[in-house]
Amino acid sequence: MLEIKKLQKSFNLDRDSELIVFDQLNLNIEANTTTAIIGPNGCGKTTLLNLISGNIKADKGNIMLNGVDITNEAEEKRASQISRVHQDPSKSVSLNLTVLENLALADKKGEKFNLNKLIQKQNKDKYIEILKSFNIGLENKINEKVKFLSGGQRQSLSLIMACMKNPKLLLLDEHTAALDPKASALVLEKTKELIQKNRITTLMVSHNIRDALSYSDRIIMLDGGKIVFDRPSASVKESEIFDIYKEKLKEKFAS
Ligand SMILES: Nc1ncnc2c1ncn2[C@@H]1O[C@H](COP(=O)(O)OP(=O)(O)OP(=O)(O)O)[C@@H](O)[C@H]1O
Ligand SMILES: [Mg+2]
Repeated sequence: MLEIKKLQKSFNLDRDSELIVFDQLNLNIEANTTTAIIGPNGCGKTTLLNLISGNIKADKGNIMLNGVDITNEAEEKRASQISRVHQDPSKSVSLNLTVLENLALADKKGEKFNLNKLIQKQNKDKYIEILKSFNIGLENKINEKVKFLSGGQRQSLSLIMACMKNPKLLLLDEHTAALDPKASALVLEKTKELIQKNRITTLMVSHNIRDALSYSDRIIMLDGGKIVFDRPSASVKESEIFDIYKEKLKEKFAS
């Protein structure tokens, strides 16, 4: 479904501060699966999502989505198939618009529109139903500006918006990291529900190993721009992952 071939990405090319983040990275993702991506700070998880979404361009290599080469496609074009939720609960929504306006915008992603015309009665009813299904009372805040929502409410809204147009690929970058344990658990459960219902292929970056294992089919660890661990999540114990982190830490201090 997603094929990454010999992907190369460096920052600050030809300068002293040159940093090679990926050198010949290969990765194949099967359709309708959720893959957790873990790895230490700075190992390239967000950069990988940025490359896939088109937020930054690859130096070399190819990114194929359902057999189509999207390596050089603009981010806006890819957005019709690829949705993203960021770690920061402010980043995936428009803070000065209401819940209703944000939903209407997500509903018309990639189309020309007039926001007022968009918010028609039948759409509003549809949005209220979706919000109700989240069970956190967001339907009562439909005319509230998003800047007045809590982090958990904003991430729930971001997730609904990201899944609204049935993307082929959903990119979650530590999307529950800023939430308290209860809100995080709720957003993760809702994520699972939406992914399963709409059969969305998902990449989920997380530093929470337990969540990464519980909510994925496959777990991948990146380190030094390479995949250093790649297994079906059901076959992995949390302690195995912690042991790898410990080993990496030892290597780092030894060098
Ligand atoms: N636009 C950029 N310009 C220069 N360097 C960058 C840029 N974006 C990322 N980097 C560097 O690339 C490396 C990978 O960063 P990235 O944000 O992908 O890490 P990450 O795995 O998401 O880390 P974290 O777990 O802390 O979110 C880091 O060393 C970072 O400083
Ligand atoms: Mg990151």
